[in-house]
Amino acid sequence: MRIHLSQTDSTNRVAREEAVAGAASGTVVWADSQVAGKGQYGRSFVSPAGGLYFSLILRPALSPDCLPFITLATGLACSDALARHFLVDVQLKWPNDLFLQGKKLGGILCETLFESHLSPAQATVIIGVGINCTGGKADFPQELRPLVTTLGEEYCGAIDLAALLEILVAEIQATVLLLPSERSSLLDRWQKHDYLFGQSLRYRNGEERFIGVGKGIGEDGRYRLVDAQGCEHAIIGGQLRPLFWPEDE
Ligand code: BTN
Repeated sequence: MRIHLSQTDSTNRVAREEAVAGAASGTVVWADSQVAGKGQYGRSFVSPAGGLYFSLILRPALSPDCLPFITLATGLACSDALARHFLVDVQLKWPNDLFLQGKKLGGILCETLFESHLSPAQATVIIGVGINCTGGKADFPQELRPLVTTLGEEYCGAIDLAALLEILVAEIQATVLLLPSERSSLLDRWQKHDYLFGQSLRYRNGEERFIGVGKGIGEDGRYRLVDAQGCEHAIIGGQLRPLFWPEDE
């Protein structure tokens, strides 16, 4: 089922409500714009008209250890599908950002819904994806314009958002279902799009801060950094950014 809204607060919020009410796995909520789009770590996600904003409800029956990899699988699926259909090279910034030509093209926010009467393997996952598509930088607040891009800025042809939605949903579903059997090869494929690899990075998580060089993703899904003393760190949360970005962005 497809639920298409011209505007909503957040498709993830609506999808969660639909999931709790019993919506089938495979249901998609999508919107032309969002007024309270949610990003990772409680941040907001600016969602003007011209973008594709959707949330896919999945009950993939995966073992709980696969759940943290769904964001990575979704990023890979988006990158592969966009490369195939628009000939663009979308890079993945661990854990959930899509980058094009060094600017943010979109992001992913996966939320898991555990219900008390169901086992963790029956958890519902809400896979939220936002991609800047047909608009331009002018649709974004002034302070974001140097940091974002849209598909339309790199691709000259027409972009049919409804068709793109179906392409992405199919690719995400197929990729997520490979997680139990092909996690390692999915991670290898993910590494080929790693935006942070080899870059000098700043890591911040509360009081913990250090600078290191990006070494790619580990088998456990954590991102690996080597600091100036040669120590390897494997990180799971916090903020990881290229050193050349302004510190407060
Ligand atoms: C991020 O950049 O931190 C993640 C952004 C995820 C945005 C998408 S848009 C569709 C879905 N609904 C939301 O409120 N967020 C996700």
